[in-house]
Amino acid sequence: MRQHVNPLSKNFFAIDPIPPINEIFENPKLPLHLDIGCASGDFLFELSLKNKNWNYIGIEIREKLVQNANLKMKNRECKNLFFSFGNANNFFEQSKNKILIDSVTSISFNFPDPWFKKKHHKRRVIQNKFINFLSNSMKKRSLIFIKTDVKELFEYMENKISESIKFKKLAIKDFRYNESFNPNKIQTNREKYVLMNQLKVYESIYIKI
Ligand SMILES: C[S@@+](CC[C@H](N)C(=O)[O-])C[C@H]1O[C@@H](n2cnc3c(N)ncnc32)[C@H](O)[C@@H]1O
Repeated sequence: MRQHVNPLSKNFFAIDPIPPINEIFENPKLPLHLDIGCASGDFLFELSLKNKNWNYIGIEIREKLVQNANLKMKNRECKNLFFSFGNANNFFEQSKNKILIDSVTSISFNFPDPWFKKKHHKRRVIQNKFINFLSNSMKKRSLIFIKTDVKELFEYMENKISESIKFKKLAIKDFRYNESFNPNKIQTNREKYVLMNQLKVYESIYIKI
């Protein structure tokens, strides 16, 4: 069992500013994907290796995981990958990060912590303030991907995103994955576990209009 981190603790109020993308990526012109709650980063390591035509940033609130991912980065040739430590909810508190959101092509929330108790819902990563920020700063036609095995959390996330008139839900069956940040449908560690245990995966894709 892993230790959950309370994102409302003041230790996580600020998120490190992410340096300008021309300083972190070999080719800053590539489309940029942001993975929120990337844990160990295994998913992003695989994506960045297979899709050299995309840049990837992972944000993770558990500092040790980010430190380990950064150590792994040193042993590999990853010129299209960057990890950032902090609470993604506070992403927009940094003006530099606000600018970065403008360059983002897509964002994924893969199997976020469910925080089952009602009194803990405020710890969930998707909150009104965060969605408002994204709806005001993401460029048109950029995408949000959500995935979870927890039905109640899925409905909660769908409600929060749908409250913004600037996001429209896409039909998954018509979605062209081959043009997305994840053309080979690589699975996250949690997704592999969920599928191995024959649990249901709920997913939606939203486009900024
Ligand atoms: C259940 S794990 C899923 C990890 C991975 N996305 C996957 O699908 O295997 C959720 C991850 O989100 C991280 N997390 C939770 N709240 C966060 C927040 N506010 N900002 C950044 N990361 C967060 C947790 O520390 C954890 O690593």
